[in-house]
Amino acid sequence: MSETVEKIQAIEANAASAIGAAETLAELEDARVRYLGRKAELNDILKSIATLPAEEKGPVGKAGNQTRGKLEQLLAARQESLETAELNQLLEQDRLDISLPGSPAIGGGSLHPISRTRREIEDVFIGMGYQVAEGPEVEKVHYNFDALNHSPNHPAREWTDTFYFQDDVLLRTHTSPVQIRVMEQQPPPVFVIVPGKVYRRDSDATHTPMFHQIEGLAVDEGITLTDLRGTLLEFSKAIFGDQREVRLRPHFFPFTEPSVEVDVSCFKCGGKGFLKDGARCNLCKGTGWIEILGAGMVDPNVFSYVRESGYDPETVQGFAFGMGVERIAFLKHGIPDLRLFYENDLRMLGQFESFGISSGGRV
Ligand code: DAH
Repeated sequence: MSETVEKIQAIEANAASAIGAAETLAELEDARVRYLGRKAELNDILKSIATLPAEEKGPVGKAGNQTRGKLEQLLAARQESLETAELNQLLEQDRLDISLPGSPAIGGGSLHPISRTRREIEDVFIGMGYQVAEGPEVEKVHYNFDALNHSPNHPAREWTDTFYFQDDVLLRTHTSPVQIRVMEQQPPPVFVIVPGKVYRRDSDATHTPMFHQIEGLAVDEGITLTDLRGTLLEFSKAIFGDQREVRLRPHFFPFTEPSVEVDVSCFKCGGKGFLKDGARCNLCKGTGWIEILGAGMVDPNVFSYVRESGYDPETVQGFAFGMGVERIAFLKHGIPDLRLFYENDLRMLGQFESFGISSGGRV
């Protein structure tokens, strides 16, 4: 037997034992590169066949090719068994014992009472055909005050009451500026409500520097104060109970004329002013009425700012109203201090889990 053929047999024996000894796919790959790779000794031998004496060429070529074929088979077989072993090990590690007891239940979250109240109010107006509109919290003085007919020296313009960024840019102090923005965007008729955050320099048990309002605006031909009253009566019944009545008291707002404050008959004492035991009702302070919002007929001066979008004060009329969401929520739930809404104490917030109508699938 030629020396070269013996060498090939030795290579085969070494390679076979290296393949058999490989414990991982990585080790097996090392063995493959070492014995069958481009730089492997067997490869060199096969390449040098042309230079061998004629009588050796045949036997060396045959032995070399046989060895290569055999090693390829051994590699494939070993690879398959290592892969199976690795998979089995993974399956073993990931095995779940579904009979083990579970970890304690994680309590579900709930909507913040302000969000719930806002949605409840929105749903009442959506049911009457209103659309929901929004506007920016960082607002121009033009929209927040000027176009809403505030006189140049109106006290709400003071920096002591209002957060300013620049002379003409501020954090909106109410949702009313969105009235103007909506009317700029669409001609009458318009029926919208505008929920949103508003900001004022105020902080005590009944005022927080940020709070929520919902604005309403209805503009069409022939809208009257009676429409406003009927709309707010329906709203009050939906939120505070079927037996409610409303009353309108004269007031002043720059952007409405006439302006009113709206009271709802007290839902604690039924409007009587005293409770069953004869004690004075502490919710309405014995008056039988509770103030819930401001409203009025849109001032023609306001329409004149949006005349170009189709609001001719001679042909369209409208009513507007604005309410504080926190105020509605605290009246309804007898919460003594507005700041409780923002302290995020779950013992307080958790009490509202089942309050109100469904979220309608919204989050
Ligand atoms: N913007 C008023 C406020 O913040 C509330 C308000 C009153 C809104 C009367 C209105 C309205 O639309 O007609 O106090």
